[in-house]
Amino acid sequence: MNNMVKLNNVLGRIPVHVAIIAMCVVWLLPAVGLLVTSFRPVQDVNETGWWMVFAPPKGAAEYKQFCSPCHGSNGSKVAGVNLFDPDLVSKYRRSMYLAATFSKEFDGKVHIEKDQWPNEQQTANILSYLRRESGLDTRPRFTLSNYVDALVGYRGRETYREECAKGNIIPGERTCNFIKDMTTSQTGMGRAFINSLLVTIPATILPILFAAFAAYAFSWLDFHGRQVLFAILVGLQVVPLQMTLIPIYKIYTSLGLNGTFLGVWLFHTGFGLPYAIYLLRNFLGALPRDLFESAYLDGASVWTAFFRLAIPLSVPAIASLGIFQFLWVWNDLLVALVFLGGTTPVMTYQISNLVTSLGGGWHLLTAAAFLSMLLPMIVFFSLQRYFIRGILAGSVKG
Ligand code: HEC
Repeated sequence: MNNMVKLNNVLGRIPVHVAIIAMCVVWLLPAVGLLVTSFRPVQDVNETGWWMVFAPPKGAAEYKQFCSPCHGSNGSKVAGVNLFDPDLVSKYRRSMYLAATFSKEFDGKVHIEKDQWPNEQQTANILSYLRRESGLDTRPRFTLSNYVDALVGYRGRETYREECAKGNIIPGERTCNFIKDMTTSQTGMGRAFINSLLVTIPATILPILFAAFAAYAFSWLDFHGRQVLFAILVGLQVVPLQMTLIPIYKIYTSLGLNGTFLGVWLFHTGFGLPYAIYLLRNFLGALPRDLFESAYLDGASVWTAFFRLAIPLSVPAIASLGIFQFLWVWNDLLVALVFLGGTTPVMTYQISNLVTSLGGGWHLLTAAAFLSMLLPMIVFFSLQRYFIRGILAGSVKG
């Protein structure tokens, strides 16, 4: 009987599990596609989809069908001819030269009967297969070039490393010293990464610091209009950011804050504060009153109670706020675009510039996207254990 119930439970949950797994796959698949794409050479990205990455090399099927019966799968079954020999393959720079051998006669016998010739496309594929097998074409299946190019902000017919090896780089624009180019190039993700950090770290710390002061005051200090002020503060959250852009832009212009980090920090602090205060107040307000009263009885000042009691106790709430604020600022394009623009580009700004109007630059875009995801992922996973606790912060009393 008991076993039947257990079995029923397990069977009953199967549809739920299947649904959850299906959802995960649907969510993750595009991300996997982007990740794979970011490691593929640009020509491959332009030719085939990312799911072809594990398919046999191009032309292998055609080679097997048309050429292997005589030349064999290793290319050297016919005596005196090795199709995978780079010297031989390099003679056929175009597929039409290769096609020309099909009608040739060897010892009075035509090379390939006319009705068995591969067509033009197939011949081209066979040639690219021969080039790959002979080692003439060294294009690897996976490469880090996209990341290198994205970091230094290089977009050209060939990769940054190839152009540097050939000495084709325009002097003055780039030095071919990777570290130097990465940290100075105005179009690169490397410099943008530093800018993003310079924007995000203060814009995360400042609002949380101020919010902690305010939240402590709202929950444990008695002053007039406390409730009204708090209600106004919560109400402030409905003001949409977009509405304030132009007024603040005007104020910043008169103060000379446009294009400065300070301006962006202040903006993010202003917009982060209401929610941060609200969340921290609920968390701090839920701490037992006796705790603070006994602290005061023991002669602790407000500052001591704040730094020694309130702050350590609200670490989960602060951490989760930190993650939220960090992600929000890191992924923000609008504010950075308006107040920093192209003079101090951040990562989101660079990414939005990577796709051309014709849809090119996919390989760079995917690499850049993963570069910008790197830090949020590290932050999220290292603070993750606070996260679940923090989401619940203030939602349950006691
Ligand atoms: C019916 C058998 C047969 C098939 C099918 C065949 N070959 Fe050959 N191929 C030969 C023979 C035999 C030779 C060697 C002739 C010699 O040099 O004595 C040869 C020679 C060649 C050569 C050297 C030509 C030269 O001028 O020296 C190339 C290149 C070549 N084959 C490419 C191909 C390709 C590519 C295919 C597939 C599309 C193919 N062959 C299919 C039999 C075949």
